[in-house]
Amino acid sequence: METKDSVDVKSIKKFPLTLRLVVLVVVVVCGIYICGISLEQKGLRTSTKLLENTVFKQPCNYPSEVEEWEIPYLHYPEPKTYSRMIDDCALCREECACNPVLFFCIVSMQRSGSGWFETFLNSHINVSSNGEIFSVAKRRANVSTILETMDKVYNLDWFSSASKNECSAAVGFKWMLNQDLMEYHKEIVEYFERRRVSIIFLFRRNLLRRMISVLANSYDKDAKLLNGTHKSHVHSASEAEILANYKPRINVTLLIPELNLTKETTTKAITYFKNTRHIVLYYEDLINNRTILKDVQEFLKVPYRELKSRQVKIHTAPLTRQIENWDEVKEVLIGTPYQKFLGKD
Ligand SMILES: *[C@@H]1O[C@H](CO)[C@@H](O)[C@H](O)[C@H]1NC(C)=O
Ligand SMILES: *[C@@H]1O[C@H](CO)[C@@H](O)[C@H](O)[C@H]1NC(C)=O
Ligand SMILES: *[C@@H]1O[C@H](CO)[C@@H](O)[C@H](O)[C@H]1NC(C)=O
Ligand SMILES: *[C@@H]1O[C@H](CO)[C@@H](O)[C@H](O)[C@H]1NC(C)=O
Ligand SMILES: *[C@@H]1O[C@H](CO)[C@@H](O)[C@H](O)[C@H]1NC(C)=O
Ligand SMILES: *[C@@H]1O[C@H](CO)[C@@H](O)[C@H](O)[C@H]1NC(C)=O
Repeated sequence: METKDSVDVKSIKKFPLTLRLVVLVVVVVCGIYICGISLEQKGLRTSTKLLENTVFKQPCNYPSEVEEWEIPYLHYPEPKTYSRMIDDCALCREECACNPVLFFCIVSMQRSGSGWFETFLNSHINVSSNGEIFSVAKRRANVSTILETMDKVYNLDWFSSASKNECSAAVGFKWMLNQDLMEYHKEIVEYFERRRVSIIFLFRRNLLRRMISVLANSYDKDAKLLNGTHKSHVHSASEAEILANYKPRINVTLLIPELNLTKETTTKAITYFKNTRHIVLYYEDLINNRTILKDVQEFLKVPYRELKSRQVKIHTAPLTRQIENWDEVKEVLIGTPYQKFLGKD
């Protein structure tokens, strides 16, 4: 009895041990199995990612109407900050991922209508012109910061109110000649040619009118004629009239040298970039003939659209009523190549 008892007790004690072993083995086997599955899935996921990437990296087909010479100018940027393609979808593409993008730069001078021109461009659903990005001095601290800033713009990683992001077909910005474009022209020409950036030069023919606009705008920076706020561009005729009421006095000693300098600077700029794909536009032509906007869209390779701007021209009166010392100015300019600026337009 005693032994039996003790045997019984032993077997009862032994049984849970076996059970525990069995459970342990099952757990270990299951563990290995589950790990195996998840590893396998991970592998699967990696290969899906690889597949996605290879699908994405595959070159897009160029639109059928593209000519051979245009191909280097059509880019397929891959922004760092977002995707031009839907995530988690290996085979379908975002509608615009395969639309080529053209890179441009509007090269201009202050008070030459470039702000107005840019509002036209940005009214196009596929054009992003990101404004005067180099008006901020630290972006042009040196050549490296200039090139890095441009890389961001052309990579579609630049965000402004104008960015259309994934559906941009032409992307660019506005650059004034006095924002270190002339100083670093060598490196910038090299960059524009390497990255195939197209230039839209926008200048003003009547440099005397431009001078009045510069003087009036700089006066308004302090005077703030419109209810205490300084405005460089306006959207109504009444605002334009208030700003145009101010008649600047022109220093006639400096007049000819300044006109000379402006003329020389624009000529030099066009010379520096003569081998870069470009067009030259004049503000006066744009005012008189809106079909130029059609040429611009062709130049940018974007689908044609009617473009709109809400901006209103500030100085519309004849020049005689816009300059305080008109008689003096007239006297200095008559008989010089600049005499034509005195006439209408
Ligand atoms: C350029 O300027 C940036 C910002 O001021 C500075 O961090 C960088 O070191 C400069 N690079 C060169 C090459 O001078
Ligand atoms: C222009 O943008 C529209 C809307 O975002 C898009 O459907 C179209 O494909 C784009 N066109 C081009 C040429 O990028
Ligand atoms: C200036 O303020 C007046 C009254 O506050 C207003 O009627 C007028 O429209 C404002 N003008 C501009 C140019 O903002
Ligand atoms: C015109 O500019 C010159 C050079 O800066 C200056 O010497 C002269 O006093 C100015 N004339 C007037 C009328 O302001
Ligand atoms: C302006 O330029 C013209 C020719 O481009 C030159 O003959 C003239 O001397 C220049 N005048 C001044 C004041 O620089
Ligand atoms: C308007 O500009 C186009 C080219 O952009 C030109 O062919 C046409 O002759 C111009 N029309 C006028 C009236 O100047």
